[in-house]
Amino acid sequence: MNSQREFPEWGKLYQEKDVESMPWFNPNLDADLDQALTKLNIHTGTVLDLGTGPGTQAMVLAERGFKVTASDLSDAAVSVAQGKAKEKGLDICFLQDDILNSHLADEFDFVFDRGCFHVLPPAERQHYLRVVYSLIKPKGYFFLKCFSSLEERESGPYRFTPEEITEIFSDRLQVLSVEQTVYQGTLNPPPPALFCIMQK
Ligand SMILES: C[S@@+](CC[C@H](N)C(=O)[O-])C[C@H]1O[C@@H](n2cnc3c(N)ncnc32)[C@H](O)[C@@H]1O
Repeated sequence: MNSQREFPEWGKLYQEKDVESMPWFNPNLDADLDQALTKLNIHTGTVLDLGTGPGTQAMVLAERGFKVTASDLSDAAVSVAQGKAKEKGLDICFLQDDILNSHLADEFDFVFDRGCFHVLPPAERQHYLRVVYSLIKPKGYFFLKCFSSLEERESGPYRFTPEEITEIFSDRLQVLSVEQTVYQGTLNPPPPALFCIMQK
């Protein structure tokens, strides 16, 4: 499950392809995040959309009144998303930032990672956790969507069991729930995924 996986050159990908064609493109708020925010009664606050890519999640969260910062490794992704947000008249702080060499300094009420963690090298997971932990306010939340070990397609991101997620993250965060779901995007059928709710 953890043998090395291959990923596109993120910078190049966003220069060459329309974001609408990317497997993870979802113009709506991720349904699992939407449900979690309702369940936890979270309607305002500061958010980091980590690995924002097309920026759709950042945009919907900003439309809902959250104060959003959105970061991605890819300059091209950030500039495309920034352009779209501007067209919509949304005030989002877009930043180019590598989460494994991050210059982010704020603490957020919640951090959302929809598809970044599962493309990072396994050896960097604890480093990633340390950085993400530092970006969450005390008692703040971390929402994570990643591929599930139930996904059978050969290529694509790393996959996880609920037990693996708990093992990786519970050193620093309280893992409140890890549920089997799907990753809504352009793939049919949508890949099996995990949606995880954690608290600092
Ligand atoms: C599967 S895409 C998901 C994009 C977006 N979250 C969404 O739901 O549409 C993964 C994103 O993570 C970004 N990424 C990959 N490695 C990263 C890193 N080290 N730091 C920050 N972003 C990274 C990629 O550029 C890509 O946009």
